[in-house]
Amino acid sequence: MAAPVVDAEYLKEIEKARLDLRALISSKNCAPLMLRLAWHDAGTYDAKTNTGGPNGSIRNETELRHSANNGLKKAVEFCEEVKAKHPKITYADLYQLAGVVAVEITGGPPIDFIPGRKDSKESPEEGRLPDAKQGASHLRDIFYRMGLTDKDIVALSGGHTLGKAHQERSGFEGPWTRDVLKFDNSYFVELLKGESKDLLQLPTDKALVEDPRFRHYVELYAKDEDRFFADYAASHKKLSELGFNPP
Ligand code: HEM
Repeated sequence: MAAPVVDAEYLKEIEKARLDLRALISSKNCAPLMLRLAWHDAGTYDAKTNTGGPNGSIRNETELRHSANNGLKKAVEFCEEVKAKHPKITYADLYQLAGVVAVEITGGPPIDFIPGRKDSKESPEEGRLPDAKQGASHLRDIFYRMGLTDKDIVALSGGHTLGKAHQERSGFEGPWTRDVLKFDNSYFVELLKGESKDLLQLPTDKALVEDPRFRHYVELYAKDEDRFFADYAASHKKLSELGFNPP
């Protein structure tokens, strides 16, 4: 599909959609789910073939049925309410805007948002998103394929400061932090404390403390929240723009 024309009117619609997303996300308390939606639309990117990425394809039934996306149908449906009011805005832009708003509304850093992403109807094959049961080398395989770095991997994993795992969606259960609707550096603080009976650590989370190059950033972000916010905002922007070359 063609790229949207980003003129003054489009930008105005983006600002209106931003307000509608804020209202929707706070009334439904769905910031974690919306952040996961934005990440799963973007995280299929393959830099070599320039396929996947933040292109709205996650709304396709086939992609929503990929097991990594269990539970995200609800997030797609929530976004339909905003899309109906602002039909000009592409799904690709809408989902990434929802991710940015989810972080901001829960107290996270502001993230620069540039609109203009194209929608795609084509979904990538299943299996491009990370498998939570694996370790550091798998994380590198997946994120390097997107063109991201070790620092991006650790900073972005800090997204688990929000929300929880649901047995019926992923087979895992529980939150990573004590306040699932507050975006802060507590994910890293909890990781360094080791396992606890009421908080979750996935094998891929544990890999961040076990691998020395990842651990360097975990320690940094646990002691310096400003640094985490600055790096998170930069990495999130990169994730939201994979395969998209803003004008
Ligand atoms: C939830 C895995 C990276 C944001 C989850 C869940 C799993 C998972 C298994 C639980 C889903 C459920 O049962 O509802 C992973 C793995 C990652 C990763 C293996 C590799 C590093 C990320 C990134 C972000 C993110 C990069 C965002 C920047 C979230 C959020 C939730 C979540 C916000 C909570 C959703 C909710 O409460 O409904 N992730 N994730 N994750 N993930 Fe990740």
